[in-house]
Amino acid sequence: MSKVLITGGAGFIGSNLAHALADNNEITIVDDLSMGKKKNLDGIKVTFYQHDVCDREFMHQLLSENKFDYIYYLAAVASVADSVERPLATHKINQESVLDTLDYIRTQKLPLKKFLFTSSAAVYGNSPEFPKLESSQVDPLTPYAIDKYAAERFTIDYGKLYGLPTVAVRFFNVYGPRQNPESPYSGVLSIITECMKNNKTFTLFGDGSQTRDFVYVGDVVAALIKLATATDKPMVYNIANGDESSLIDVIHAYEKISGINLNIKYESGRNGDIDKSKADISKLKSIGFTPKWTLENGLREYWKYYE
Ligand code: UD1
Repeated sequence: MSKVLITGGAGFIGSNLAHALADNNEITIVDDLSMGKKKNLDGIKVTFYQHDVCDREFMHQLLSENKFDYIYYLAAVASVADSVERPLATHKINQESVLDTLDYIRTQKLPLKKFLFTSSAAVYGNSPEFPKLESSQVDPLTPYAIDKYAAERFTIDYGKLYGLPTVAVRFFNVYGPRQNPESPYSGVLSIITECMKNNKTFTLFGDGSQTRDFVYVGDVVAALIKLATATDKPMVYNIANGDESSLIDVIHAYEKISGINLNIKYESGRNGDIDKSKADISKLKSIGFTPKWTLENGLREYWKYYE
């Protein structure tokens, strides 16, 4: 049994990770429930702390008392809009707390097997290369993207400079069960699911031709576990499906699966939205990981979860 800490473990991706690991690991979760929900952890055995990761004293004590084997760092303010409204507050969570944890591990020489930090495709911003490779130019355009990029670089540098076992990932458009649809900036598929379930009108920004690289959370969790256990170099990896789908095609596929016609209201494109997004996932494949959920199967599984 390994000892695993998941910060942000009551959130969308963190709770899916906790469910995948709970049977064979001793899991500790720190989550302030600002976005996550305690009920996301129903049915699994975890030690849960409702706490802010910015509380250094608390985090230091937790780290030194537990000697975790693996730390998955998912705690963050996930809303880009929020980071634009409150850049200083979100900076503390999205960057400073990560650096502080890394530095505590370094100075206390904690015997860790892997520290995995979760960054975002937002770091690519409007950089022109397509599809996005990890070596592509970055262009972080918001406080969220800047902090994710900086924390990701600190994670990699703590590996290179001090020999900490680190790895970082950049998520593309993750979807699946437990994604919170409550904010207008929630993942589009969680909003669409919510509209379908409750017969609400979905507002489509643009004409639906915009593309995204949608990846099912089951693949994301499997990739995180593989990266934590099977890599030994401090590097950054894209986590995506490696495909690009237009939003309107995704909606049509989802309508077929759910048997529900989505009411759509069209509005002009959202400020700052990008047209096309697709990842190159050769690097992820090079460690022996290939996503197994097609978009159709992922959508079917997502819909089934709520039936
Ligand atoms: C994602 C991130 C965002 C980040 C960006 C840059 C999420 C949820 N968002 O945005 O924080 O800045 O990558 O890499 O991960 N849409 C609608 N109606 C809605 C909601 C969305 O039409 O109600 C459209 C959007 O305009 C967009 C597409 O759906 O064109 C996808 O939106 P979203 O799920 O927010 O993801 P990204 O735009 O890729």
